[in-house]
Amino acid sequence: MAGSKPLTKSEIFDLRWQRARRDLIGPFTRLYAGRIDPEDLLERTRSLSLRHWNDRSADLRRLDLERDLNPDWFLGQDMVGYVFYIDKFAGRLDQLPSRIDYLADLGVTYAHMMPCLKPRPGASDGGYAVMDYREINPDLGTMADFQKANLALRASGISTCIDMVLNHTAKEHEWAVKARAGDPFYQDFYRMFDDDTLPKRYEETLIEIFPDQAPGNFTYYDDMEKWVWTTFNEYQWDLNWENPEVFLAILDVILFLANKGVQAFRLDAVAFMWKRMGTGCQNLPEVHDILQALTQATRVAAPAVIHKAEAIVGPRDLVPYLGTGTHAGRESQLAYHNNLMVQFWSSLASRDTRLMTHVLQTHFPEQFRRACFAPYIRCHDDIGWAITDDDAQAVPPMSGFGHRTFLADFYNGSFPGSFARGADFQSNPETGDRRTNGSFASLAGLEAALERDDAAEIDLATRRILMGHALIASFGGIPLLYMGDELGLTNDHSFRDDPALADDGRWMQRPAMDWQRASEVAETDQPHGRIWRGVRHIMAVRKATPQLASDNGTRIVDSGNPAVFTYLRLGDDRTVTCVCNFSEHPQRVALDLPEGAIDLLTRKPAPMQGAHVLVEPYGALWLRA
Ligand code: GLC
Repeated sequence: MAGSKPLTKSEIFDLRWQRARRDLIGPFTRLYAGRIDPEDLLERTRSLSLRHWNDRSADLRRLDLERDLNPDWFLGQDMVGYVFYIDKFAGRLDQLPSRIDYLADLGVTYAHMMPCLKPRPGASDGGYAVMDYREINPDLGTMADFQKANLALRASGISTCIDMVLNHTAKEHEWAVKARAGDPFYQDFYRMFDDDTLPKRYEETLIEIFPDQAPGNFTYYDDMEKWVWTTFNEYQWDLNWENPEVFLAILDVILFLANKGVQAFRLDAVAFMWKRMGTGCQNLPEVHDILQALTQATRVAAPAVIHKAEAIVGPRDLVPYLGTGTHAGRESQLAYHNNLMVQFWSSLASRDTRLMTHVLQTHFPEQFRRACFAPYIRCHDDIGWAITDDDAQAVPPMSGFGHRTFLADFYNGSFPGSFARGADFQSNPETGDRRTNGSFASLAGLEAALERDDAAEIDLATRRILMGHALIASFGGIPLLYMGDELGLTNDHSFRDDPALADDGRWMQRPAMDWQRASEVAETDQPHGRIWRGVRHIMAVRKATPQLASDNGTRIVDSGNPAVFTYLRLGDDRTVTCVCNFSEHPQRVALDLPEGAIDLLTRKPAPMQGAHVLVEPYGALWLRA
């Protein structure tokens, strides 16, 4: 390669391949050596990647180069995410470009479009039962519309993220249809059993995800006389990741979509990808090898692309998704911080942040290598109260079961004095486990306060919502705004009238965008104006504060006041001390602040009362010299 000419396209590819090879050989050997010579798998991965690299457009290759030179691009404090359903936000894809100004105004740089690939007809688990990964859902538009929308977003500095559902396909997917017709090659794409001996043994240690509408983890099909592994709904067939052909087929799809302009893939339900008898079949070590292999193989042909792992699991299991041990710096670049989310709601209900401080301090490193969390407060799913008995016991007299029960009761509104208007989801009488549905605003008390027309309560609910946004904007990672939360949209019960949706209470927190309200935000004194302006301001201050970049550490400190959660963002030059008051009363905390510290959110001197910092009800402060 010596010489003075610029590198050719194929030389660039070779250099990238050499880099990736080192990170692929370990996972390939551990995962697949029993089924294929790892060298053969490497060669097939290389030629598949090369084919997509040759197809990649010049503008995307330019972006690849930019991000090769700046692989930390997604760690900047300028990153702000927004999550939306295309139909609920814009109608169809060809109308999306006309909504970009709204996103840009909020400061958004990362747009996660909820499932948009072609789903099975009828019930599709909100699009998470994909029938064709190479086609856009016809209700939303065409692949050409999708590409145009991506270009328009990119022109405004917004990277597109879409869901890649890789634990399962719809049973109507071509692979499943062939499997069902008896094709052994495709039967090996799924986990099929001739009788129920093994399924029964697996069931002994598995949990049920949807005990109400889809009990059990296996489904029997008369026509093929086989049991199929179906963790989620009957129509979602789990892929067999022990088969290297599945790896290659999914990588092929990822690179195909990357060439349509996708810059981030939200890898759905990754915890479930590997199964082992006698375990819960979640978070097995092989999952991390698969994720490393997918990330590193993607980087060969599409270095502009990053992966976000969706693993909604307890703290100990969550951390490895951002790469620990040999996977450090090599696995998914992003992962949802569902523990921060759970702890936000836990502290809000109890006005006590000790559990939050304990969990976030004990189980999480201050930073990761080339990776960060995506903190969020609400999303389209239910909230699972992922609080372990051990963690609860660290905060006496709390018990795990007692606290989880309290949270479910608080957020369904039945606990005396609760401000929340949520609903139980998938109550499991055997385990006592209950999950919770509801929008940010409704869970935070806005719905109830508006109904009572209680100005003081409306004010408190508004403050809770803004404090949550300040938390995710400063905690480290890419904050994800969930469509409508910036306007305080409350629960939507209209799904009950649609038979394809009625049995899934999660539609409650998936309202349509309210463009009427959105048009009023600049002026109105109503809560939606206050919330929107507050969120926009918080994101703007985030962007202007380099210490909040995701490659700076996050250190949790015990504030000494249980109502107040405190953490430091460790910039190279200066530290930002972030404080959140989880109670409706003003609080005082003793903090070690530099001389002349100001609150970045108000640009006023740190509010002191004697030697203490004073935090308003549900207030958030970002204090820095
Ligand atoms: C993820 C999605 C959820 C879906 C499940 C199965 O957890 O967020 O909505 O039901 O995966 O695909």
